[in-house]
Amino acid sequence: MNRALPGAPRIRPAEPSDVAFIRGVAVAVFSHIGDYGTIIPEWFEHDGVSTFVAEEQGAPLGFTMLGFYRIDAPDAAPKSGSDSAYAADLLAIAVTPDAHSRGVGRRLLDHAIASARAAQKKLPVRELRLSVADTNARARRMFAAAGFVDVVGEHGWYDGGQRALHMTRPI
Ligand SMILES: CC(C)(COP(=O)(O)OP(=O)(O)OC[C@H]1O[C@@H](n2cnc3c(N)ncnc32)[C@H](O)[C@@H]1OP(=O)(O)O)[C@@H](O)C(=O)NCCC(=O)NCCS
Repeated sequence: MNRALPGAPRIRPAEPSDVAFIRGVAVAVFSHIGDYGTIIPEWFEHDGVSTFVAEEQGAPLGFTMLGFYRIDAPDAAPKSGSDSAYAADLLAIAVTPDAHSRGVGRRLLDHAIASARAAQKKLPVRELRLSVADTNARARRMFAAAGFVDVVGEHGWYDGGQRALHMTRPI
């Protein structure tokens, strides 16, 4: 059962000063599947990745990372931006363990969905995709409740040996 926060956490774009928090959460929650303490700060620096932080009374609680890529057939002829199809990719969503099960993850997820939808003003974004370990029942339940469905097929393995699942949701 969720312990509700007294007020909804604020979600804002991340700043360089948030990297230590983001790295710390990544180490705390993703170390069993791979070296995300290294990978996630690298994604943070990438121009095509947008990072958002949830905070409550100035204290950071969690973050999301969102990227976008073209999903046209690889052999398709080059198209103008407006003719191409894009997917948003939820590269990471994580909440600091002390704040789990209080609604922060769902709030971050709703914000990521809204951000992907807002991007449609500039890009024809058709869907929001993500990868999740098959062992991560909690996250899979949250994603399913938000309208994500499994993408059929083999999607590889995490470094920790977990099978990677892909999920998608129309935008
Ligand atoms: C997955 C994660 C982001 C969820 O964040 P959270 O703030 O704990 O989740 P919320 O409190 O918003 O709950 C969202 C849903 O998650 C599930 N959930 C949350 N806490 C749970 C618990 N203790 N047990 C089982 N399911 C739980 C439920 O489906 C819940 O929805 P409901 O309350 O309507 O039933 C968080 O657990 C986390 O950071 N996990 C580690 C990182 C990770 O696995 N990221 C996802 C893969 S990229």
